[in-house]
Amino acid sequence: MAQYKAPRGTHDIYGQMALALEELDKISRTVFRKHNFKEIKTPMFEDVALFTRSIGEATDIVEKEMYVFEDRKGRKLALRPEGTASLVRAYIEHRLDMEEPIGKFFYCGDMFRYERPQAGRYREFLQMGAEYLGNPNPNADVEIILLAKEILSTLNINDVVIHINSLGCANCRPIFRQKLVDYFSSIQDLCEDCKRRLEKNPLRLLDCKIDSQKFQNVPTMQECLCDDCKNHFNQVQSLLKSVGCDYVVDDKLVRGLDYYTRTVFEVRSNAVGSQDAICAGGRYDNLVKELGGQQIPSVGFALGSERVLMAAQNTGFFDKLPKNDLVFIAVADEELFNEAFKFANNLIVNKENIRQKFNLKDNIIVEGPFFNKSLKSQFKLADKLGASKTILFGKTEFEQNKIVVKDMVAKTQTEVEYKNK
Ligand code: HAM
Repeated sequence: MAQYKAPRGTHDIYGQMALALEELDKISRTVFRKHNFKEIKTPMFEDVALFTRSIGEATDIVEKEMYVFEDRKGRKLALRPEGTASLVRAYIEHRLDMEEPIGKFFYCGDMFRYERPQAGRYREFLQMGAEYLGNPNPNADVEIILLAKEILSTLNINDVVIHINSLGCANCRPIFRQKLVDYFSSIQDLCEDCKRRLEKNPLRLLDCKIDSQKFQNVPTMQECLCDDCKNHFNQVQSLLKSVGCDYVVDDKLVRGLDYYTRTVFEVRSNAVGSQDAICAGGRYDNLVKELGGQQIPSVGFALGSERVLMAAQNTGFFDKLPKNDLVFIAVADEELFNEAFKFANNLIVNKENIRQKFNLKDNIIVEGPFFNKSLKSQFKLADKLGASKTILFGKTEFEQNKIVVKDMVAKTQTEVEYKNK
């Protein structure tokens, strides 16, 4: 028989990891909602042109990482590699600018990129993102950065460095771009990717993994920023300082998506190895217009759930995952099976507040009863499952309208009145 395996770069999520993801999801949703962000769900695949147009033709994502396919009618589609383009498409399509006085949205979902898999880098991964549309001011950039930081500190992930940079605007970026072209043209032996991108997208050369050693005294965007962009960036920094949020200005931070303008940022953690960006984002003032909407300056971020959970491995987050008490229903005599089954069901639906009567918590997990198992093996199973209580249906007690509640931790047992109704 063929042994099937999950496709390369994908992974199954189960056990503690599934619980941790659920908790991360809950925490993030609470933080997003507190800041007035509303959930939006968009399709997992879109017209491929949406991504080409917004992310940029000369980016790694569009050039080599998208899962592109044709449907049966020949439409060219792509699995979404990120969430911003889809959000903006939905915002324009549904005229959400008319509906929502403040354009704050969040999303959680799978993204797909054909990257070389390694720890923290997958071909299918989860992102949680927030997008703030319609606010051109630096306070929106800072709110977005603080929102990401708040989610991370709720998970006790505080050992992070926030890198920020400004990529300027349509006025000053071309000056920087030209300076880069002049600079890189003077460098010998550029790698094939760099050579190819020099004309189309020279900013991408700044984070080339192969050639970066060759680049010394590279021109910086800071030197080229126009007054408006400089002011904007200064205000972002002054607001970050005013709330005591540490950051480093990182000239080399250019990001792998072309829609950014002005502020870009990455949150990096030392706890996750080489794929250290656990969250990233920035401002994209022209994207809504470029995709056919109004001029709506916007800013957002996405955090990578798997990487965030890697960063949370040693923060105590996993130890504090909610653990519900498990109550095991055991039967000493097969004749009582139906009674025990009915009782378990009553516990699950909390019929007539039955949990209170048995002094059980509201969020218990109920397991059992099981057919054809000796009492010994039922108790063994209860132990293995970590049951905090076992409720036993025994013939003698049942005839006296009682059932036995065993506390598996304290190793005590009591008989509790139970009328068979
Ligand atoms: P991004 O930097 O491409 O930005 O991805 C954001 C985060 O997703 C990364 O910092 C990382 O944690 C996670 N991530 C990315 N690729 C992978 C992968 N292959 N495996 C595991 N995790 C990954 C964006 O996607 C932008 N849409 C963010 C944004 C929102 N900018 C403005 N608004």
